[in-house]
Amino acid sequence: MTAGGRAASFVRDGEGGGSWGNRGSPTFADVVSSAVIRRAAMVKMVVIAALAALVATLVAVLIRWLPESASEEMDRITFVYWFATIICIGIFALVAAVIIEAVWAFRVQPDDDTDGPPIHGNTRLEIAWTIVPAILVIAIGVVSAVVLSKNADAGSNPLHVKVFAQQFAWRFEYPGKVMSDELVMPLHRNVKFEMQSADVIHSLWIPQMGQKQDVVPGITTEIVITPTRTGTFTLICTELCGLGHAVMRAQAFVLSAADYEKWIAAEKAKAAATGSAAGKTLFTQQCGSCHRLADAGTQGEVGPDLDKVLAGKDADFIHESIVNPNAEIAPGFQPNVMPSTFGESLTDAQLQSLVDYLVKTAGKS
Ligand code: CUA
Repeated sequence: MTAGGRAASFVRDGEGGGSWGNRGSPTFADVVSSAVIRRAAMVKMVVIAALAALVATLVAVLIRWLPESASEEMDRITFVYWFATIICIGIFALVAAVIIEAVWAFRVQPDDDTDGPPIHGNTRLEIAWTIVPAILVIAIGVVSAVVLSKNADAGSNPLHVKVFAQQFAWRFEYPGKVMSDELVMPLHRNVKFEMQSADVIHSLWIPQMGQKQDVVPGITTEIVITPTRTGTFTLICTELCGLGHAVMRAQAFVLSAADYEKWIAAEKAKAAATGSAAGKTLFTQQCGSCHRLADAGTQGEVGPDLDKVLAGKDADFIHESIVNPNAEIAPGFQPNVMPSTFGESLTDAQLQSLVDYLVKTAGKS
């Protein structure tokens, strides 16, 4: 019997040994009900599956694949990873058991060149191996969709932080126009990032926070992070953006709510001090030769005395007077004396510091 001892075991008792040719092809039921999948084989497969599951579980658990979570979003992402991993371990164990047992049980002699038995399908088994994976994949999809939606929810009172990315640096703007090169987040508060790029595509990622989002020129992208522990982290650009990509990093700090308030107050004071100094310098250089202003000590008389005409005026009026000087001409002065080009020649930041400075000082001394 050259078909090998194994092939013979496909044949039911009483049908005699020989080649498959004389009796047609066996159905799956023949195979199952035959001695091939015997009790012993089942036991062996269960043992192999348990071993495979154990090894896979050890690999999953003992190796630190993910950084220690520092945000609610990362907690949810980690859950998705484990959900999918557990399913994968189950499937791996099943497949490993069937393959190892099949390779062992149905191996042939080295000189056996005969065809294997042409086995027919099994409808019930095929339905099962279609439906079960479909359910598992849909389950992973549903869990992922729920997590994505929760991770995008900034809640009712998030801290808004604008992110400006450019080759190869990050800048962060806090409410009140406080600018910072470092990211500072208060503990347990939803932080909503609104991100813009000045040049190419960058991507914001703090590994312990899980969330990752591209920063794309021309549009504003968003991401939400809710820190769950204080500490120092590294914000990484994770989109290849040019020669300096690898160094496009920023420090990220998570502070307690009280420490965050202290930090933002200090930054505001610093910004006010430098903004005010910049506004005064700018005024002296650009406006002082034509305008009198006591705080700056300028004596110009080509244009109106600003301590008189700006007293009690708001920022909008001052801004308009700088960029569009003919909008309102002070009594006793002619239109077109003051250049109407300051709106273009000054940057927005310069204009802002000038307006801030004049709001604070004109007519106040
Ligand atoms: Cu920016 Cu890589």
